[in-house]
Amino acid sequence: MRKFTREGHAIYHADCTDVFSSEICDGTVGLIFADPPYNIGKRFATFVDKWPTDAAYADWCKVWIDACIAKLTPTGSMYIMTSTQCMPYLDLYLRDRMSIVSRIVWHYDSSGVQAKKKYGSMYEPILFCVKEANNYTFNAEDIRVEARTGSRRKLIDYRKSIPATYNTTKVPGNAWFFPRVRFRMPEYENHPTQKPEALLERIIAASSKPGDLILDPFAGTFTTCAVAQRLGRQSIGIERELDFVKIGLRRLGVCDELDGEPLRPLDKSYKRRNANGVRIPEPTDQPTLF
Ligand SMILES: C[S@@+](CC[C@H](N)C(=O)[O-])C[C@H]1O[C@@H](n2cnc3c(N)ncnc32)[C@H](O)[C@@H]1O
Repeated sequence: MRKFTREGHAIYHADCTDVFSSEICDGTVGLIFADPPYNIGKRFATFVDKWPTDAAYADWCKVWIDACIAKLTPTGSMYIMTSTQCMPYLDLYLRDRMSIVSRIVWHYDSSGVQAKKKYGSMYEPILFCVKEANNYTFNAEDIRVEARTGSRRKLIDYRKSIPATYNTTKVPGNAWFFPRVRFRMPEYENHPTQKPEALLERIIAASSKPGDLILDPFAGTFTTCAVAQRLGRQSIGIERELDFVKIGLRRLGVCDELDGEPLRPLDKSYKRRNANGVRIPEPTDQPTLF
């Protein structure tokens, strides 16, 4: 296990279960965002996320879920993601241990490979759970979005004692549209399942206060920690793959080299080539005529 810190933010290169047992006190974490491997056969640097059965995957999840629940403050919240096919296992387990406040669907535009013999996968489920059903942080005013029903034309609600226009903003519902992170986006890092900063912004703004401690046990590119840093929260991010830890170290400004290796941002410039490998000119390469 290796630990790096900077001004209220800690990055661990470790298995999260090792960090839980020795490094984080019970009852100290205000918000957990857990985005584990989904058990769908995706490659993460040195391992492929496939368990022998869904039940074996669920057993693995139950171990870290129990540890996460213990780390939460009494008013703490946990958001958990996994694949659509595995979420029922976690939902059934969690509903006996926490209060599930919302079952959220994060949906997005079509994936690169189009499904031909089934409906393409266009969403991922998120469970929003709290320890105490009647006592948890939820900053509704900090996450309001534009209300699209009626408000645009300033329709008047005549059911009120004094008729007034409908609200122009509202607390978001449980179907969230955020584009997936694509190569040319400024936030893109080299990771197969990076989550959008906008998704984490909503979760952190809603379910934590400035200064709260936020834990991400499967940090990947450390999106949670980077957004926590920007929003004035503290964070702990844990990641078992060194390549991804390096991304976190750079993204959070912890250091700009590790063991003598410079931590440089990804080079996103690319040259388009045709089938023969000949470079296709970019629009900016075209000769000007006038
Ligand atoms: C779904 S990705 C998380 C992506 C992340 N939310 C982001 O925005 O980049 C899951 C991550 O968990 C890491 N991981 C898998 N098993 C782990 C474990 N036992 N402890 C810590 N990290 C683990 C994987 O290497 C992978 O980067």
